[in-house]
Amino acid sequence: MLHYYDPNKSDPGTRGLNPDMDYGTPPSTSATLVSLSIDGTDISVPEGTSVLRAAALAGINIPKLCASDNLEAFGSCRLCAVAIEGRRGYPASCTTPVTEGMAVTTQNGKLAKLRRNVMELYISDHPLDCLTCPANGNCELQDVAGAVGLREVRYGFEGENHLDAEVDDSNPYFSFDPGKCIVCSRCVRACEEVQGTFALTIDGRGFDSRVSAGQNDPFMDSECVSCGACVQACPTATLMEKSVIDAGQPGHSVVTTCAYCGVGCSFKAEMKGGQLVRMVPYKGGEANHGHSCVKGRFAFGYATHKDRIREPMIRDSINDPWQVVSWGDAIGFAAKKLKATQARYGRESIGGITSSRCTNEETYLVQKLVRAAFGNNNTDTCARVCHSPTGFGLKTTMGESAGTQTFDSVMKADTIVVIGANPTDAHPVFASQMRRRLRQGAKLIVIDPRRIDLLKTPHGSTGIHLPLRPGTNVAMVNALAHVIVTEGLENTAFIESRCEPKQYHDWREFIAEERHSPEAVEAVTGVPAERVRQAARAYGEAGNSAIYYGLGVTEHSQGSTMVMGIANLAMATGNIGREGVGVNPLRGQNNVQGSCDMGSFPHELPGYQHVGDPAVRARFQEVWGVAIDDEPGLRIPNMFDAAIAGSFKALYVQGEDIAQSDPNTQHVEAALSALDCLIVQDIFLNETAKHAHVLLPGATFLEKNGTFTNAERRINRVRKVMAPVAGMEDWEVTMALSNALGYPMDYKHPSEIMDEIARLTPTFAGVSYDKLEKLGSIQWPCDEEHPEGTPTMHTLDFPIGKGRFAVTEYVASEEKSNRKFPLLLTTGRILSQYNVGAQTRRTANSQWHDEDVLEIHPSDAELRGIREGDWLGISSRVGQTVLRARISDRMLPGVVWTTFHHPGSGANVITTDSSDWATNCPEYKVTAVQVEKVSQPSAWQRHFEQFDQRQHQLLAPSASQTEPSDASALK
Ligand code: SF4
Ligand code: SF4
Ligand code: SF4
Ligand code: FES
Repeated sequence: MLHYYDPNKSDPGTRGLNPDMDYGTPPSTSATLVSLSIDGTDISVPEGTSVLRAAALAGINIPKLCASDNLEAFGSCRLCAVAIEGRRGYPASCTTPVTEGMAVTTQNGKLAKLRRNVMELYISDHPLDCLTCPANGNCELQDVAGAVGLREVRYGFEGENHLDAEVDDSNPYFSFDPGKCIVCSRCVRACEEVQGTFALTIDGRGFDSRVSAGQNDPFMDSECVSCGACVQACPTATLMEKSVIDAGQPGHSVVTTCAYCGVGCSFKAEMKGGQLVRMVPYKGGEANHGHSCVKGRFAFGYATHKDRIREPMIRDSINDPWQVVSWGDAIGFAAKKLKATQARYGRESIGGITSSRCTNEETYLVQKLVRAAFGNNNTDTCARVCHSPTGFGLKTTMGESAGTQTFDSVMKADTIVVIGANPTDAHPVFASQMRRRLRQGAKLIVIDPRRIDLLKTPHGSTGIHLPLRPGTNVAMVNALAHVIVTEGLENTAFIESRCEPKQYHDWREFIAEERHSPEAVEAVTGVPAERVRQAARAYGEAGNSAIYYGLGVTEHSQGSTMVMGIANLAMATGNIGREGVGVNPLRGQNNVQGSCDMGSFPHELPGYQHVGDPAVRARFQEVWGVAIDDEPGLRIPNMFDAAIAGSFKALYVQGEDIAQSDPNTQHVEAALSALDCLIVQDIFLNETAKHAHVLLPGATFLEKNGTFTNAERRINRVRKVMAPVAGMEDWEVTMALSNALGYPMDYKHPSEIMDEIARLTPTFAGVSYDKLEKLGSIQWPCDEEHPEGTPTMHTLDFPIGKGRFAVTEYVASEEKSNRKFPLLLTTGRILSQYNVGAQTRRTANSQWHDEDVLEIHPSDAELRGIREGDWLGISSRVGQTVLRARISDRMLPGVVWTTFHHPGSGANVITTDSSDWATNCPEYKVTAVQVEKVSQPSAWQRHFEQFDQRQHQLLAPSASQTEPSDASALK
């Protein structure tokens, strides 16, 4: 008897199952086993499994067309018919669940005839152009025709058919050729069940049935978000990637990890020779289970874009033309400048910035370079400007700077709270999973000034929206906690057994004060008290409540306080330490978690070990063979201030565009211009690189080996798909710089860097490339106690023993609206673009968002005589920029919103250097502004355009054929 157990969600990897195989229908999670026989093979499978899946698990292939193991069974094609002893007719095996003692026959003469007849009907309305079809060789319809032995089509093609139906080529990435459609509905179901967008329907009946996007719209005009799930589901060439139509079917593939957002989707990069033809979401990926979004699946063309920097370059002044030099000369030039700077201005006068785009191994090496070769702790990372408050807040309250759950955990949540995050745009694949849970009936609470799409979709329409004023998060979380405490919704058993009593009592006394009641803070937050009470009850009364939060929590002057407020709420209700609950920061970039874990912050060595701790330093010193400074170094904003003051003179920046992404652009530009030596390692001439003296070509994620750590602490392998355009992977460049500075580094492969990380970082002690190969991915902590990683944190205790409640006094932001600046600006992202846009702007994704616009409420627009599309001057106390108007009621009156994906927009010219009290994370989410109609670009934008053009002229033509940046806001 064969026993098969379907993988359950907490099982790392797809153990026992082949992720490349389609088992026909989804797994059953039942613990009860049912025994049956299929073609004489005895097998036992979980109750609820379909006969089709049971057969696949037994290695018996039943033909199928409308079924797929990521979709609920539909039973429309009839190809999977089987004979079952004691039953009449030939039931569809995909919709028939197994029963105890069932005896199934999958092949006999009658079944063969039935299947051939079905196929004959399909093929009679299908063009027989297999030899020239782009799906040739990878087409399920073709395979099934072969499997059922179809030899002739008796009905001819003369009758009515769909062969001349018009092709819809509106989407830049895939085409829709209805002439090839067999109306199996897999695309429609993929859009609903996998993606959760409901963009497709089957229009008409019988022979007239056809797939339709929206109301018979072209795909580009419909609700479609181009996730590609329908393309992947289609068993024919009806929905097909244009890259495959152009290049032909790929020949081999490499499994790797998406380098866009913190979901960390796994992909098979499908190649034809050295050309990347298609990215196919990998079913074995534990973060994405075979799904993806438009960025990961389609927006990879930037890797081969003509703007890539392909050769190292140097110059003495930013007014000089770049000189193309060899790697050796560029590294030598950089090292000489760094040494000369330190000789003249002292050891502390230089520093380095790591990037959350780069791998763990690269980030580790940059901070090691700074601490060991520069001899100081002036290392920081772009997480400074996004999730540094998460590190501080979670470490203070729960002892670990990371989210507590797996993504799959959301499938066990009864109430889902989303605070200051917009998952459908910024974490799309996780949003699809969240929406699946909402469709199953989980409650939704959204705390956000803006009505995000999660609330708009049918399943979320009953969600509770708390549209608070920007900057009042802490008042809101205190009000929610007040209701929990005063309405008896605390989990006293959890508090007594898991939390420090003294801190709890102090907090409880504080939070119970009437001044924190929803009624008392209504005037501050702007949200009706009753709705806040309703939300608190929905959170506190549910069996499992989970909180997911984003930069709308952290990027505030009280970002760290808010993170602690969220942890208080979870501990007070016992929503920690099991599946379906927890505190989950949604990390923006692919490796924000990893760059923090790897010791990028000036005060912490890898694994959040403080540089001030002599025992910690001793361990690193022993392995690194060099003394480590015991004083924390400069944070990014301190580096800028010190550069302007004249004491900080040289900076090495790997993979981070600080000039575009950091707040108060003019201040950043002044700091960069004050440096004697700026070394930029990047894939394009970004805004920071325009101020550089050394330009080192970076490698994309497709061109290197390493690991990324996603928002659920999952370490995933990044595997080299193609050679680096300039011949060096990024870790090799850092290593060369270190060697040139006289501090020897000698790694042959990133796996050796990971071995060193594991040796020095307790939470990574059990991690190795070999184990990653075996398990697929690992969620840290991974050590002796948890040799295969830790999906759920804090199950029995906290790393600090007991949880520590923190008193979270609300302090109003200094950035308040007033008569001069009466509106509050808040910023965010959209689906098709990614952060500073350097990658996505160089793909067809720009067709969805080719400029940043300012969303303004109709009442604020009317007051100012503003109409859709007008040019608007937006002024804050630090600067002015000009954007086009979009009238939108997604925000409250008094709040305006924009994105920051285009450099010429200058969104960060207006954001200020106001920041979180604990971590200096900038307060991007609250800037007091005035908005008025204007007719020309701002002074900064005019300067930007001139500087941009000049810097492109100075770029050596042989190094790259770059074009000036997309300054669309100025056109
Ligand atoms: S487009 Fe493809 S998946 Fe959709 S119904 Fe037609 S054949 Fe099936
Ligand atoms: S690409 Fe995604 S959103 Fe668009 S129709 Fe297909 S499944 Fe739906
Ligand atoms: S959800 Fe994030 S990780 Fe996944 S494909 Fe999209 S951008 Fe990449
Ligand atoms: S695969 Fe079962 S009816 Fe289509």
